[in-house]
Amino acid sequence: MSRLARAVNRLAGSIFPRKAYVEVSGSKIVAPHRRLSGLAFKDDRVYIESAENEAHRLIDHFQCTRESRILDVGCGQGRLAIGLIRVMGESAYTGIDVNGDSIQWCKSFIEKDHPSFRFKRLNLYNERYNKSGIKIDEQFQFDIEPASVDIIYLYSVFSHTTEHDTRVYLKDFLRILRPQGKIFFTAFVEDNVPDITINPADYRLKCSGPLHIVRYNKPYLFSILAEYGYSILDFDYATETDGQSAIYLSNPR
Ligand SMILES: C[S@@+](CC[C@H](N)C(=O)[O-])C[C@H]1O[C@@H](n2cnc3c(N)ncnc32)[C@H](O)[C@@H]1O
Repeated sequence: MSRLARAVNRLAGSIFPRKAYVEVSGSKIVAPHRRLSGLAFKDDRVYIESAENEAHRLIDHFQCTRESRILDVGCGQGRLAIGLIRVMGESAYTGIDVNGDSIQWCKSFIEKDHPSFRFKRLNLYNERYNKSGIKIDEQFQFDIEPASVDIIYLYSVFSHTTEHDTRVYLKDFLRILRPQGKIFFTAFVEDNVPDITINPADYRLKCSGPLHIVRYNKPYLFSILAEYGYSILDFDYATETDGQSAIYLSNPR
């Protein structure tokens, strides 16, 4: 879209404000003009279908039930939460994100109608999503009690965080996970590439902006996970959005 078209759009939007959501087969989802997820999710039906698929993923792989305590880190505009509501109903769910607008949207259009779904802003620095946040150090801990979470879920999050931030999260996940707890995350993972590359040239997507793609060498990523003691339950290569891989972990305890 040209700069002129964007300016006209903004002006039209301020005169005739557009709705922040669209209703699709009984669920409110973020309106396409506010949707931050990639091109793959622009279509409303595809969005809803992907939300339901994510809920089924947690049920099929982790035997998730309405009693499971789920932590959705980098929840964005509530895609997983919408899927869980459609597939399971009220659940013990917390979504956190560094992006204030996304959390506000989730509070207004999910939490208000479904109070068992809680959303919290975490004002941490991310060069792509929250430039005014606070940089995290090794001592960082989530505001969550020890050994209280059954499932931690991060879709397209470690694909946009530095190795330092990813390690800090992986370390604190060990504290907050229940003994039988599980983690699911997606990441760009390849063999025969450098340990970590940020915005690799000639890869799957043309990168735009900071931390668009953080790509790992597979043995290197697995060595990081082993350092923290995680067992890899499953690894599905390039099955996810934009060619990311799916990784399923279990708590070493
Ligand atoms: C590509 S979006 C994915 C959103 C959602 N998981 C989904 O699949 O629809 C990445 C999300 O991660 C969030 N994020 C980035 N860094 C984060 C961090 N350090 N902690 C929590 N969320 C983060 C961004 O604000 C953004 O909402």
